[in-house]
Amino acid sequence: MPIDDLTAFAPDFAWGAATSAYQVEGAVAEDGRAPSIWDAFCRVPGAIAGGDTGDTACDHYHRWPADIALMAELGLRAYRFSIAWPRVLPAGGGPVNAAGLAFYDRLVDALLAAGIEPHPTLYHWDLPQALQDRGGWPSRDTAERFAEYASVVAAALGDRVTSWATLNEPVCAAWIGHLQGTMAPGVADIRAAVPAAYHLLLAHGLGVQAVRAAAPGARVGIVNLLTDCEPGGAGEADAAAARREDGHHNRWWLDPIHGRGLPADMIEVYGVEPPVRPGDLEAIAAPLDWLGVNYYRRSVTVADPGGPPPHTRQITPAGTPRTGMDWEIHPDRLAKILVRVTEDYAPRSIMVTENGAAYADTVAPGGAVHDAERAAYLEAHLSACASAIRAGVPLDGYFAWSLLDNFEWAYGYAQRFGLVHVDFATQERRVKDSGRRYAEIIRAHRDLRARPLAARSLE
Ligand code: FCB
Repeated sequence: MPIDDLTAFAPDFAWGAATSAYQVEGAVAEDGRAPSIWDAFCRVPGAIAGGDTGDTACDHYHRWPADIALMAELGLRAYRFSIAWPRVLPAGGGPVNAAGLAFYDRLVDALLAAGIEPHPTLYHWDLPQALQDRGGWPSRDTAERFAEYASVVAAALGDRVTSWATLNEPVCAAWIGHLQGTMAPGVADIRAAVPAAYHLLLAHGLGVQAVRAAAPGARVGIVNLLTDCEPGGAGEADAAAARREDGHHNRWWLDPIHGRGLPADMIEVYGVEPPVRPGDLEAIAAPLDWLGVNYYRRSVTVADPGGPPPHTRQITPAGTPRTGMDWEIHPDRLAKILVRVTEDYAPRSIMVTENGAAYADTVAPGGAVHDAERAAYLEAHLSACASAIRAGVPLDGYFAWSLLDNFEWAYGYAQRFGLVHVDFATQERRVKDSGRRYAEIIRAHRDLRARPLAARSLE
């Protein structure tokens, strides 16, 4: 990474790493935690590669002190994690489980003591199963219960936590969970997916209000997975498909939170009217303090007239660079998306809340993990962030996905994204070369401000 790129990042840039509750915590039946839709989905035969579950995951629920020590060793300034709704409100609403809440209380205190800023996300896909049993996201009650939950957590932690995200990637919870059916709750029905997608937006809006009411001064945002959509072929059919894909993936989530309402073209494509009530769109459009952008890859889209809405299919052109899980690598698209979001929606502040790559890492004799490809992915995307900042993007943070190898949803433990390797048999952690490289970059950025010449060694 050229040293010049580092100068683009402000002195207080949030250098971070991210995880989520179900992917790392384990301890699914401990201290009063109730099952989530992911506990249930992991029990569906064939749903998860290798029949894996998040029952133990990285055992972070017990190993968090050591994990915070690892973060400190890497020099992280910020940690993005999620709070498990079924630990805090096991029934989804109603009685608070003090023991579950206490876990996050300890975590936040320990992060702050280590000089690491906590960035919690309230919902990273682990809906309490009790709410699923009452209709899940297709039901309006789930959005209202989310606001109740957000208020409980913000009241408990808001004296120390200033940065809050409502939802992680509602695009996946809605469309993969209720239209493709390959993530929890495993439904494949557009008539369930559209109300689910709508109530996720509503939950966000009500959640913003709830957090602000319980924790005055909170900086609230949302995390969206964005992708650059381009047509797979030269004809008009694929051009139209790419526009639909952009509507489905990006605009559906960005337009309403920025006060532009729900994209009318997409409602037509879905053929299902979202259950909007008076006042909802105003709540959904509550002004935000920051916008989270998760970026992994571009989308090359072709028309798929016979498929479910939005009648598109993704292709992977031959010969493009890919990660170990076959995701295309295009750092320039990260810069493009950041610039687009800035131009189209003018957010006050942006953070790249996830970005990373899976590779089949191996532990070398002696314990090192030489993941040169992941280190290169990281540096290339950080350079893209630097270009975006130079182009006027108000980028204030970057969170590598992920701190630890973890439970990668339907891929189980087969895909490793961590800066830190986890041996799932022994729970031993080993910082990978990419983690060391990230630490060097963070340190060089710090030194650049303090002693400009010392940082030149990074080149
Ligand atoms: C994102 C998810 C995150 C992780 C990465 C690889 O879509 O938010 O939990 O699984 O993908």
